[in-house]
Amino acid sequence: MQSEVSVHGLSFRPLISEEEIRQKVVEMGASITEAYRERNPIFLGILNGCFVFMADLVRACDLPCEVSFIKLASYEGLQSTGEVKTHIGLEADIKDRHVILVEDIIDTGKTLHSFLPVLAAFKPASISLAALIVKPEAIVYPIDIAYKGFDIENKFIVGYGLDYDGHARNLKGIYQLSMETP
Ligand code: IMP
Ligand code: MG
Repeated sequence: MQSEVSVHGLSFRPLISEEEIRQKVVEMGASITEAYRERNPIFLGILNGCFVFMADLVRACDLPCEVSFIKLASYEGLQSTGEVKTHIGLEADIKDRHVILVEDIIDTGKTLHSFLPVLAAFKPASISLAALIVKPEAIVYPIDIAYKGFDIENKFIVGYGLDYDGHARNLKGIYQLSMETP
């Protein structure tokens, strides 16, 4: 893992390696496989950040399933705007289906707090949540996370799908902002 990376003028240091992520995602996949074997779930990813995690998570699951995406956003630059915008609507028919919502990271919880009731209105059989990263100190809207990867401190991160203003999604590991932001 690179020792320090520069992204769009800011410096980030290694936090979680590619191998640690891989092991964790395999564990999460095994738990989901066990729980959803007979339920033909729909994995519903929240774009853009989830795309790398989703690709690895579904391949760590050994069961019949479907995959779909929705695009929501509450972030600009390094901070949550506190307002969730929906960009692309739900295309899959989720009525009476078991939905596993897939998030890269849960920060304040605002995105899901706004979106869960919207999703519930489509009358799925169940909704559970899989999130690779959680920042427990940042949570404003507590949410039940059935499948969780890592708890981290409340600092901005990039890599493995996560971006800083669109940059660094392609880093294989996860990197944390090294300095305080002005
Ligand atoms: P929340 O609504 O505050 O929970 O924010 C959730 C969304 O904000 C995530 O799905 C990410 O897209 C984005 N986000 C939150 N924290 C970070 C971070 O540290 N780096 C990059 N994106 C983040
Ligand atoms: Mg996201």
